[in-house]
Amino acid sequence: MPVVWRSATVCAVDQSFFEALEAGADIVIAQGAEAGGHGVRRATMTLVPEIADLLARESPETLLCASGGIADGRGLAAALALGADGVMVGTRFWAAEEALVHPKMHAAGIAATGDDTLRTKVTDIVRQKDWPERFDTRIVRNAFTAQWHGKEGELLTQRAAETARFNAAVSEGDATVAGLVAGEALGLIETIEPAAQIVSRMVNEAVDVLKSTARMAR
Ligand SMILES: Cc1cc2nc3c(=O)[nH]c(=O)nc-3n(C[C@H](O)[C@H](O)[C@H](O)COP(=O)(O)O)c2cc1C
Repeated sequence: MPVVWRSATVCAVDQSFFEALEAGADIVIAQGAEAGGHGVRRATMTLVPEIADLLARESPETLLCASGGIADGRGLAAALALGADGVMVGTRFWAAEEALVHPKMHAAGIAATGDDTLRTKVTDIVRQKDWPERFDTRIVRNAFTAQWHGKEGELLTQRAAETARFNAAVSEGDATVAGLVAGEALGLIETIEPAAQIVSRMVNEAVDVLKSTARMAR
């Protein structure tokens, strides 16, 4: 019989967190705003321990994953230290060989740092995604975001033409216009690698970090 895990990603300590518990989530994923893709404002560093404390009180059997900005063994070790049972990783696997990403987009992402990303609503406008107001999306800054971020009202008036231009850029892998969805962890990524290699290095690094940290505590 297959095991089905019910997970819920929460980006804040709000109604969504308590609804996830009421719905019987087996795993709560606490995701900070460093993450690639949709999210809100809280940082991983404070959100994870705050939710770890709440789960310890309200629902100790629920597993906690940390997410947002975790791309190597240091991030995994830090997440465990903050009280998480595991991690959910997006951006690091976007930069995996198996990811179906246009080579030009991969090259643009590898060249970018965490500072080259921003949270914006422009991609949701042109992709016609109707997310709740408090959510926006972390992508890599480019000529399109320079033109439209902060001018969302004007973009709405030109949505049809800009959607066509955006979609063409996605097909062509034109990172100056297409929204390259990735988080601040881009600054930690230098190579496109097989997913299995990413996982094994992350785990081995985390073990080394935790061992050396334990030595410091002696
Ligand atoms: C390229 C890319 C596409 C994503 N697409 C989705 C999506 O369709 N739905 C979703 O819930 N999250 C999506 N995410 C968010 C990830 O599932 C995950 O929550 C996030 O990437 C974790 O943070 P990190 O990017 O810092 O590792 C996406 C992330 C990336 C990088």
